Amino acid sequence: ISLKPYNTFGLDVRAKYFVEIESLSTLKEILKGNSPDKLFILGGGSNMLLTQDINKTVVKINLKGIEVVKEDDDCVWVQAQAGENWHEFVLWCIERGYGGIENLSLIPGNVGTTPIQNIGAYGVEVKDVLESCTGLSISTQEQRVFDNAACKFDYRESVFKNELKNQYVITSVVFKLTKKNHILKTGYGSIQQELDKNGITTPTIQDISNMVIAIRQSKLPDPKEIGNSGSFFKNPIIPVEQYNALHAKYPTMPSYTINDQFVKVPAGWLIEQTGFKGYRLGDAGVHEKQALVLVNYGQAQGSQIEKLAHSIQKQVQQIFGISIDAEVNIF
Ligand code: EPU
Repeated sequence: ISLKPYNTFGLDVRAKYFVEIESLSTLKEILKGNSPDKLFILGGGSNMLLTQDINKTVVKINLKGIEVVKEDDDCVWVQAQAGENWHEFVLWCIERGYGGIENLSLIPGNVGTTPIQNIGAYGVEVKDVLESCTGLSISTQEQRVFDNAACKFDYRESVFKNELKNQYVITSVVFKLTKKNHILKTGYGSIQQELDKNGITTPTIQDISNMVIAIRQSKLPDPKEIGNSGSFFKNPIIPVEQYNALHAKYPTMPSYTINDQFVKVPAGWLIEQTGFKGYRLGDAGVHEKQALVLVNYGQAQGSQIEKLAHSIQKQVQQIFGISIDAEVNIF
C-alpha cells in the first residue's frame, strides 16, 4: 500500500505490508510473530522523510484513550494512549482547564512520539510535563515504565533516539498538568506581542493556545495543504567564542543562551542567509516564510528533499562553519 496518507511530507512510498494496531494484545502478537528488523513502527508520520519503499511490515499505532489517572488539589495526571492525535489531546486538556501544554498547540503528530523527540515550542518541551511513559519492548514484549529521568531528555533528544533506539514502542504517556494557578509562559517568540495585539491583559491557557495557533498558522505550512515535517533541522548549538566571532561579522545573527559556554543559533536564520529561503526545484522546496521547513509541493520524491537538505547543510557549513543536523528521521 502507499504510505502517502500516513506521512505528513505526503511522500508516495510503498510498504510491503501494513497493519493498524488498535489494542495492546494485537501489538504484542505482531511483535512476537516478526523479527524486529522486519518491522517499521509508525506513529503520526510527522517527523520522517521516507526516501524509498519499505520492504517491511509497517505497524501503525492506533491505540486510543485519554483518562485522568490521579488528581490532587493542584495537579492532575492524565494518561493518553500513543495513537491519540497530539493537538486534539492538547485541546482536550485545555477544555478541562488542565494547564502545561497549551504552548505545544498545533504540533503535528501523535502522543506516542512526543517523548521520543521531546517535542517543544514557545518555551515549553514535553520533558517539562511528562511524568512517565510506558514502552513495549520490541524483542521481548515486556512492558517498561520510564520515569522522566529515565527518558534522558535533551533538546529534541531522548533515550529512545539514542541507547534505546528502535527497541521500544511507546504505548502511552502520563502528563502532570496543573488544575489551578496555571504557570503561563508568554516570554518566548511573539506570544506577548500577539496577546497585546488582541488586547488580552490576563491571559488564560485557552488564550495562550489561540495565540500559538495564530503564530504557527502565520508562518508554518499546514501539512494538509503542503507536505512538510515542521522544522527539518535542529538549531545548532555552538561555542560562545565561535558565536562572538560570527556575530562580529554578522551583527544581526540571533542567538539563545544555553549556558556560559554555548549558544543556540536559529538554523532558519542561517539558511535564510544562504539564499535558500523560498527556493524550489521541481516539487521539493524551502518554505517561503520559514527557512527551517522543507516542503513537498506535490510530487516530490523523498530523495529529492534529502538532496536539497544536503545542499543546504553544505552551504551553511561553507559560509558559517556550522554543521546543522536533521531533526527529521530519514529512512
Ligand atoms: N529566522 C529567520 N529566517 C527564517 C526563520 C527564522 O531569520 O526563515 C529567525 C527568526 O527571525 C527568529 C529565529 O530565526 O529570530 C527563530 O525563529 P522561530 O522563532 O521561527 O523559531 P525556530 O528556531 O525556527 C523553533 C523550533 C520549532 C518551534 C519554534 C517556536 C527547532 C528546530 N524548531 O523554531 O519547532 O515551533 O522554535 O518555539 O527547535 C519543530 O520542531 O518541528 C518546530 C516547528
